Amino acid sequence: YIDRVKAREIFDSRGNPTVEAEVILSDGTVGRAEVPSGASTGEKEAVELRDNDAHLGGKGVRKAVSNVNNAINQALHGVAPFNQAHVDKIMIKLDGTPNKGKLGANAILGVSMATARAAAKATHQPLYRYLGGTDLELPQTFHNVINGGEHADNGIDIQEFMITPVERTSFRDGFEKIVNTYHTLKKVIEKAGYTTGLGDEGGFAPDLKSSEDALKMLHEAIIKAEYTPGKEIAIAFDAAASYFYNKDTENYVFEGKTYSPAELGKYYASLFEKFPEIISIEDPYSEDDWENFITFTKQYGSQIQIVADDPVCTNPILIKKAIENGMANSILIKLNQIGTVTETLEAIRLARKNGYTTMISHRSGETGDTFVADFTVATNSAELKSGAPARSERVEKYNQLLRIEEELGEDGTRLARFPNNVDFD
Ligand code: PGA
Ligand code: ZN
Repeated sequence: YIDRVKAREIFDSRGNPTVEAEVILSDGTVGRAEVPSGASTGEKEAVELRDNDAHLGGKGVRKAVSNVNNAINQALHGVAPFNQAHVDKIMIKLDGTPNKGKLGANAILGVSMATARAAAKATHQPLYRYLGGTDLELPQTFHNVINGGEHADNGIDIQEFMITPVERTSFRDGFEKIVNTYHTLKKVIEKAGYTTGLGDEGGFAPDLKSSEDALKMLHEAIIKAEYTPGKEIAIAFDAAASYFYNKDTENYVFEGKTYSPAELGKYYASLFEKFPEIISIEDPYSEDDWENFITFTKQYGSQIQIVADDPVCTNPILIKKAIENGMANSILIKLNQIGTVTETLEAIRLARKNGYTTMISHRSGETGDTFVADFTVATNSAELKSGAPARSERVEKYNQLLRIEEELGEDGTRLARFPNNVDFD
């Protein structure tokens, strides 16, 4: 049983405070987890409790830490760690709010993930096996190699330009292709006279004039690395359009120009035409603009993966609404948007049951914790985005997948196919 839980304030990849939680079982087993933090957050995300006082610019998480050490510790003492849903339900009830605003989603999620870790350890299983059982496959990974929007101080308004390995013989083979392309991209950017400093997710953050220039550079890098665009390496992007939407005019102010929703759709379509290797687009419209997000899905949903992030925030209630309205055909999954492992699994189940793909995601503020790598394999989610093949908080997730592939042995050659609509329960 759970003997006690405790937490401490640690720091994430941006140097901001975050929660680390530990679950200590009666046999002495310790499960530990670190909580990530986003920058371009959705409005409907569960509450990340910050102290808003003089400590660390108001970003401290001492209240969340204290909630783990006191209220949550008392509530979980003596509870079995093997029933994740039960543990999570106790915390959800204890919090009592719809958005985890009282205890903090950062407090609750830390304990939720640490419980799964402790239970896996106590039963001598790797985390992916404990959560996922058998018949597991390695995902296709999406690597944000040019950072814009809220993740970099440059003129590009699309937030993330990703490359993904399509044709590959193993996870390692695909990842090596990504690494080669990333290094080639650096040379392409240097040659064009831009700086090669990195953004929050390990991608380059050159001060390009437009998103189209970024796509041109990616296209060139894929070819110079001697891969075929679309066949071996494909492109995806996250527009994170909530961040360039003007609520008052209901227009989009993008890279110095104003677009009506219809014009924005045409702009995206022109990119798909110029770069046929684009296979996935995330948040093409704002979280406040469901109508145009839905229209866009009707127009392009049969030819391209359309991922919903900000509008649904890994929240089963919002995902249900999206499905009913035909918004997107894929759901981005971030554990800290909803705040427990159980509700995240529910979100995945709901999406997949309805033919939606699921892409598991890191946050722009990350830690060394590799929970999402195991979680992606455990849920056969087929897709993971965890940043560039640079900066340890990003690369560790991919290193963990290399380890998992080795551990799965023969089975590890099972590679997820894109797009994956396989049922999950
Ligand atoms: P975030 O960005 O972690 O800063 O929210 C990720 C995303 O928008 O997908
Ligand atoms: Zn996003």
